[in-house]
Amino acid sequence: MKNMIIMLMISTVFVFGAHEKRGQKYYLQRCSSCHGTGKMWGNVATKSEWKQFFTKKTEELKSFHDKNPKVVEYINSKAFNKEKSRIWRFLQEFASDSDSIPSCNN
Ligand code: HEC
Repeated sequence: MKNMIIMLMISTVFVFGAHEKRGQKYYLQRCSSCHGTGKMWGNVATKSEWKQFFTKKTEELKSFHDKNPKVVEYINSKAFNKEKSRIWRFLQEFASDSDSIPSCNN
């Protein structure tokens, strides 16, 4: 019963969640175990670089992870195709050329 409720809550988030929240969720699921929070790590790339990694440069993205077959497997999967645009939009918020990056003085 408890599981049912949790499932319901998750699917509600999926249906009604804001785009960025969904991207964040995918990011947390797929990338944060190794890369930590988006805030810390998003700024290794610029906005356009992030977009490229998830569109034209997926080969490059895979090559960063050739020691982590699970990641490569994910990048090759259908799930990645579905989720990638949300993930890069989420990461773009924290890109090195993004305005919304919190400064060290905050
Ligand atoms: C199993 C651990 C793991 C997961 C999960 C993972 N990565 Fe990585 N990633 C790494 C490691 C380790 C490196 C460093 C490789 C290197 O420096 O050669 C890396 C490097 C990168 C880089 C290069 C950035 C840089 O530091 O120059 C990008 C971009 C990247 N990962 C994106 C992602 C994205 C997007 C996801 C989620 C879809 C993800 N990674 C999930 C382990 C992981």
